[in-house]
Amino acid sequence: NPNIVLCDWMGDETPCVKTLVHGDQRRLFNTSNSRMTIMPAWVIDRYGSNDVLRFTKNAGFPIINYPNEVVVQVHAAGLNPIDVSMRGGYGAATMAMKRDPLNINQSGSEFPLILGRDMSGVIMECGLDVASAYFKEGDEVWAAIPPWKQGSLAEFVVLSANEVSKKPKCLSHIEAAAVPYVAATAWSALVNTGGLNKDNCAKKRILILGGSGGVGTFSIQMLKAWGAHVTVTCSQNAERLVRGLGVDHVVDYTAGPVEVPLRALEKFDLVLDNVGGDTESWALGLLKPWCGAKYVTLVTPFLCNTDRLGIADGMLQTGVTVASKALKHLSKGVHYRWGMFAPNGLALDDISEMVDAGKIRAVVEEEFTFSQVPQAMLKVEKGHARGKTVVKISSGEDSSE
Ligand SMILES: NC(=O)c1ccc[n+]([C@@H]2O[C@H](COP(=O)([O-])OP(=O)(O)OC[C@H]3O[C@@H](n4cnc5c(N)ncnc54)[C@H](OP(=O)(O)O)[C@@H]3O)[C@@H](O)[C@H]2O)c1
Repeated sequence: NPNIVLCDWMGDETPCVKTLVHGDQRRLFNTSNSRMTIMPAWVIDRYGSNDVLRFTKNAGFPIINYPNEVVVQVHAAGLNPIDVSMRGGYGAATMAMKRDPLNINQSGSEFPLILGRDMSGVIMECGLDVASAYFKEGDEVWAAIPPWKQGSLAEFVVLSANEVSKKPKCLSHIEAAAVPYVAATAWSALVNTGGLNKDNCAKKRILILGGSGGVGTFSIQMLKAWGAHVTVTCSQNAERLVRGLGVDHVVDYTAGPVEVPLRALEKFDLVLDNVGGDTESWALGLLKPWCGAKYVTLVTPFLCNTDRLGIADGMLQTGVTVASKALKHLSKGVHYRWGMFAPNGLALDDISEMVDAGKIRAVVEEEFTFSQVPQAMLKVEKGHARGKTVVKISSGEDSSE
């Protein structure tokens, strides 16, 4: 038989390396060891404060259920405010619907739940439909993991290939894990909802409310790379950070009512709101009227509505709220929109190119080890982010670090 498969067992938690010998051609590939059913992970078994986080060596190993999926060995995981919120049960109703649309499972079937939305790692196994010309075992990839899927605070994760993208070559896994979730959110808000792109940003005036956190530090760099004029609000002690990312004008929101200095500036083509609260009451007045200018807020009551009212009534409430606000502001000549994270491997491909071209860098504020996940979550929970918090997951060899 000219097709011979040789298999090297590398221990319980190490994938099996197979060698396929076809005639005189040899091809190495990795696949899930059939004995590999568990992996180390941080999980939660109920919603609550930081003490619900539990380390286990026996989390279920993710398996490929659909032919377009890949299994990735996680080298680094980035944390986001949504991880802290989800730990407390935020969005549970909507996520349950996404995981189980027919409502077959009992409530609580999401546990043990693995948090962590950002991932940089290496593909270990590809489903049969994953185009081998694009992804193959051993590729270094990054991804923003949708909140209804098991997250990256684990040694392995399974994702759809269209959520995954090749990691920028110039970034370490730690740096790469700082980017995807905020990048996919900023892309969704600024490109898909805000209508901005690399060809129409020159001369546009953009205001980012909350420039010093994850979304802010990424958005600044993308908009500057596209030639926009960028103003941000942030604390005084974050001014150096945002200036270093290319911001044109900084307004310190801690120095008094921030809308006062903002009203004195030339009006804007787009406001990205990362802050929420009472900003809606004055931020739309900073837009150029009757010019297609948009206010896009990332702080929306969508998931709170479904948590509080259930899926049907929550969605109805959401529709009524957003439609009435959009109509109210349209009559004043400006557009009111909600921005939402959306998984987007294709956008990450473009962002990867921008990173490798030196136009965007990762802003890592603090790095934690896998054993320090609870400390990392507390750091995110305390707020006042200056970029991103990242956890190093893999203890294996890492050529890019
Ligand atoms: N809708 C979605 O799908 C979606 C997706 C991602 C994020 N979000 C939301 O978007 C927001 C930003 O996310 P993120 O990841 O960038 O959060 P983050 O990393 O925690 O950053 C928030 C930043 O805002 C600053 N800040 C706080 N209050 C401020 C104010 N009044 N004015 C200006 N800056 C202020 C904070 O620093 P100081 O407090 O020190 O000033 C911090 O640097 C969060 O509310 C998050 O939940 C929504």
